[in-house]
Amino acid sequence: MKKIFKTTVHNLDETEKLAKNFARLVRKNGAFVCLYGDIGAGKTAFSRFCAKYMNVKEKVTSPSFVIINEYHSGDIPVYHFDLYRLENEGVKTIADELTEYSKDGVLTLVEWAQFSDVELPFGRIEIKIDYIDDNTRSFEFSTNSEKYIDILEGLKQ
Ligand SMILES: Nc1ncnc2c1ncn2[C@@H]1O[C@H](COP(=O)(O)OP(=O)(O)O)[C@@H](O)[C@H]1O
Ligand SMILES: [Mg+2]
Repeated sequence: MKKIFKTTVHNLDETEKLAKNFARLVRKNGAFVCLYGDIGAGKTAFSRFCAKYMNVKEKVTSPSFVIINEYHSGDIPVYHFDLYRLENEGVKTIADELTEYSKDGVLTLVEWAQFSDVELPFGRIEIKIDYIDDNTRSFEFSTNSEKYIDILEGLKQ
């Protein structure tokens, strides 16, 4: 059984509202989130807004060159990965490390998780972002896990 929520946003403000709503839903228990989409789709923008509404105080930057940024000033720890640089080695090289970030009570956002040549061994929320035009993006949220069903349902409200 796979739950899906799809929506289209027409500008960055609407992306911010969507992230605010998402942050509200994951604040309590955290979530492991994989973000998919081409360069410029808005993976970092969405992640930055999520961190903002988790009340992270620091400036959230793209972790492209460091693979992970972590923030501990918000409501729960926020871990922001960018796996772009793992294109050649593949995510299997860090699958064990990622598992540690799938525990409850933390929000983990992973950009470029498609470089995974292994099925990650834990439940997660997947967000696929498609570029439609300059300001318009379609977002598709889905999950393979019971524990995130309420979050998917909550997005629909
Ligand atoms: N509705 C929107 N949602 C997200 N980003 C948008 C939107 N409209 C325009 N943008 C712009 O698109 C770019 C997305 O860049 P970024 O978040 O770094 O993408 P990615 O991390 O997927 O490569 C930003 O410059 C952002 O301002
Ligand atoms: Mg990015």
